[in-house]
Amino acid sequence: MFEKLGLFPPSAATHAAKVDALYLFLIGLSGFFALLIATMIIVFAIRFRRRSESHRPAPIEGSLALELTWTLIPFCLTMVIFFWSARVFVGLRTPPRNAVEMFVVGKQWMWKVQHLEGRREINELHVPTGQPIKLILTSEDVIHSFYVPAFRIKQDAVPGRYTDEWFEATTPGTYHLFCAEFCGTWHSRMIGQIVVMDPADYQAWLSGRGAGVAGSAQGGSVADSGAALFASLGCATCHRGESGDLGPALGGIVGTKVRLQSGESVEVDDAYLRESILNPQAKIVAGFQPVMPTFKGQVSEEDLLQLITYIKTLRAAPGAGGAHRES
Ligand code: CUA
Repeated sequence: MFEKLGLFPPSAATHAAKVDALYLFLIGLSGFFALLIATMIIVFAIRFRRRSESHRPAPIEGSLALELTWTLIPFCLTMVIFFWSARVFVGLRTPPRNAVEMFVVGKQWMWKVQHLEGRREINELHVPTGQPIKLILTSEDVIHSFYVPAFRIKQDAVPGRYTDEWFEATTPGTYHLFCAEFCGTWHSRMIGQIVVMDPADYQAWLSGRGAGVAGSAQGGSVADSGAALFASLGCATCHRGESGDLGPALGGIVGTKVRLQSGESVEVDDAYLRESILNPQAKIVAGFQPVMPTFKGQVSEEDLLQLITYIKTLRAAPGAGGAHRES
């Protein structure tokens, strides 16, 4: 009904109804009190107006009941707002475990997307309905913001960092994608579209059989591209996972904690892997020498995402090198 008014974007994801309900509650509440206060100002101005030059109103002693009422009712209402919003916010920030990852790199002035299966897109994102999707975002230059009003999600893409947002699309169709952070001359042209498809259509599209798809299937998954980079950059020379290697074994390392030379421990996540590729001296695993060269300038943000995705697929070889691992 609100879509017909043109005031609301279409709703095409599971978040939409929850965000809208909270928003309408806030609008309704604000509207109610605005109206109440405006009416009372008018009514009181008339009722308690000065009736003659000699008119002296009776002194007011105060009223505990009244003061408690106008303190407790707003307190309860703000607590309702607080817990309700916190619940919606946590839902928006917590991707389900079965969410499929997709990679988004912002760049002046376009969005580059890669699906786990390898397919790439620019300023477009094709997604299936009924499948939670987690976008992992970063930027090659300045801060951008990936904003899809129909899904009620917005997340900054920050250079040098990974951020994420998730959604589950519900309604097939084409929806607007915006950059919502001023990022330079053509910020306003950094737009695109989200194409929500039935799962079957999406599979057809992924394998390049969809109608009118440019570029068709591109070679290999994200992990395959990562494996090729891993080989061509020579990573395997020092990270074979054998004892005596110059670098730590990478099989099964993601999600574990490693002990560093400094005595601290650090969890091996996307951010740590990224830092270790670009600035290997920053956090060296205990028992290894600071011999790894930096790959800054040699790998793009997309390359980094591919390498990290590949490293995540590596499994620990039984009995191999993980002696410095804590858990
Ligand atoms: Cu990118 Cu605005």
